Amino acid sequence: MAEKNRSIGIKSSEITPKQAYLSRRDFIKAAGVVAGSLTLASCAPASLQAASLPTPANPSLASKTDELGGQVNAFEDITGYNNYYEFTTDKAGVAPLAAKFKTTPWDVEVYGMVNKPKTYALEDLIRLFQPEDRIYRLRCVEAWSMVIPWQGFPLSKLLKEVEPNSDAKFVRFETITRPEEMPGLKNMLYPWPYQEGLRLDEAMNDLTLLATGMYGGELPAQSGGGLRLVVPWKYGFKSIKAVIKIELVSEPPATMWSEIAPNEYGFYSNVNPQVDHPRWSQASERRIGELNRRETLMFNGYAEQVAHLYDGMDLKINY
Ligand code: MTE
Repeated sequence: MAEKNRSIGIKSSEITPKQAYLSRRDFIKAAGVVAGSLTLASCAPASLQAASLPTPANPSLASKTDELGGQVNAFEDITGYNNYYEFTTDKAGVAPLAAKFKTTPWDVEVYGMVNKPKTYALEDLIRLFQPEDRIYRLRCVEAWSMVIPWQGFPLSKLLKEVEPNSDAKFVRFETITRPEEMPGLKNMLYPWPYQEGLRLDEAMNDLTLLATGMYGGELPAQSGGGLRLVVPWKYGFKSIKAVIKIELVSEPPATMWSEIAPNEYGFYSNVNPQVDHPRWSQASERRIGELNRRETLMFNGYAEQVAHLYDGMDLKINY
């Protein structure tokens, strides 16, 4: 990897020190992950076989840390091994399959219980809302975590434009389906399209991002381009990729994982070290690139910004 980076002119000080760096492949070997069959598999990789991965547009972002001092993960780790079932359930297989997926032009329709429904072109959203840099931790439900430098804008800005009416209580998100480009859609074990949902106040929280880029460049197809939701205090599967529909609704919408396994994946899916997954503990996690487990923080470390959203709620029931 160091060779590859040298050949594209990145200074060695700008990449993760070799000793500190452990690829997702070595990492998972060391951890010996066992995945279930029709359950949400690990977000961490088994091998990095994608042929020609793109390079980070802004390598200096890859040397930054989040507000808790967590090192941003290597670009190759974030873009070479992905959960994206519309392509394949083989994580290393997503990047090569997504290589020809067209992320431009990209439109998103915002509709439902709003005064001003509208279909927006991605470039207009970018012009309107001027994406900013946000370094977020992402905690996978299978207890892996990573730190990613996104570019994006708060979803709240878009929702304010369309003016939710007084019946709007939840937001439903839907991923594009292009069977000719997404071979995983043939797998009828999954209730396509991939859908997710948030309560309206969660959607309006400033942390909730619509990502338009990462590492200072375009959002790669395998990472959710053209447009991806990122909700950093919730498990990774809530961060739905390739969003083409945003619908304001009055009831909690069906979501992909809670439809498949309602006892394992609830609507809220907040990162919560005190509420275990039925089959494993959520008390600790492995940060990609680190050997030792670290304690999982309530709301993935974002409690100050979001804990008030759940005042008075029993989070064991509302998991
Ligand atoms: N969005 C869509 N449309 N399809 C998916 O399969 N997987 C989810 C989430 N968003 C998924 C998705 C899961 S399970 C995780 S952990 C994250 O994306 C993985 O994001 P990453 O591949 O960028 O690490």
